[in-house]
Amino acid sequence: MNATPQPTASDPDQSCAPQLDPLHVAVIGAGNMGGPVVRAFLAAGVRPGNLAIANSTPASSERAAAELGATAAPSRAEALKGADVVVLGVKPYQILDLAAEIGEQLPAGTLVISLAAGITLAQIEEVLPTGQSVVRAMPNTPISVGEGAVGLMRGSAVTDEQHALVHALFSRAGVAVDITEQQVHAFIGAAGSLAAFVFSIIEAMTDEAVRLGLKRDLADSIVQQTVRGAATMLLESGMHPAVAKNGVSSPGGTTVQGLAALEREGVRPGVAAAMAAAAQTSREMTGD
Ligand SMILES: NC(=O)c1ccc[n+]([C@@H]2O[C@H](COP(=O)([O-])OP(=O)(O)OC[C@H]3O[C@@H](n4cnc5c(N)ncnc54)[C@H](OP(=O)(O)O)[C@@H]3O)[C@@H](O)[C@H]2O)c1
Repeated sequence: MNATPQPTASDPDQSCAPQLDPLHVAVIGAGNMGGPVVRAFLAAGVRPGNLAIANSTPASSERAAAELGATAAPSRAEALKGADVVVLGVKPYQILDLAAEIGEQLPAGTLVISLAAGITLAQIEEVLPTGQSVVRAMPNTPISVGEGAVGLMRGSAVTDEQHALVHALFSRAGVAVDITEQQVHAFIGAAGSLAAFVFSIIEAMTDEAVRLGLKRDLADSIVQQTVRGAATMLLESGMHPAVAKNGVSSPGGTTVQGLAALEREGVRPGVAAAMAAAAQTSREMTGD
């Protein structure tokens, strides 16, 4: 595998892109987060036949592979054979045991990508063979539709070529950025867990739209489209959210009255508290 840089949010150099076509990827644990990672890698150009999934049982691997459009490995050992990249998508409490178990089976030059929250690069590197390349990735589920965010943390043995390869793998995920392990707690609050907070807020807005008299399917579509449109408008224009908000606040009008109610009800402190709780829990999981 000869990897050269491909454009991502943190690396806009489009001159030479890694070839993902011949790459072999093993995903050990394609669940709620490993699944979206599989979808992002396939969208980036990994061939379905070269992306092997090994879950806890062959039946589970088959189910995940069929749903995601990848290939089920008959066993974990088979998935690892010839893998250029190995994604560890199991729960944080399982990952160090898993890494220790597979260490000797990793082909030379393999890159390991850990999705586990709260488990540091040093902890993973310690249980793997000396000099093993490891990247920590902190994604969110919207990467499955190419509209997510992933923070990437580079281990001590990762080469520039492997670093470019990871960015190429996440190049269709949405935004892929390099972060430090100190920043990961804030990143979890602002991206990893944020998707769930947004789902919760969308649910609340939809329920209220129904209470106000709209049918559920109409409420679903107009709320979701408005949230997507608002985010797209800010992304595409670079406009500050306050400017966008002020632009639709006529004196004494409906929007400004609604905005005042939002502030009175403490929506801003509520959002801040949710993000801070996620970041703090991440710190506690890591022992920081
Ligand atoms: N969920 C998120 O939003 C999110 C965000 C960022 C990071 N993460 C990280 O992603 C990781 C996975 O979390 P998750 O929410 O995706 O968990 P999950 O849905 O429970 O998925 C875990 C996967 O691991 C598989 N697995 C369990 N034991 C295994 C074994 N011994 N060998 C092979 N596969 C095994 C499970 O297979 P079966 O289905 O067969 O049991 C399942 O597919 C965690 O480390 C978490 O910190 C999650």
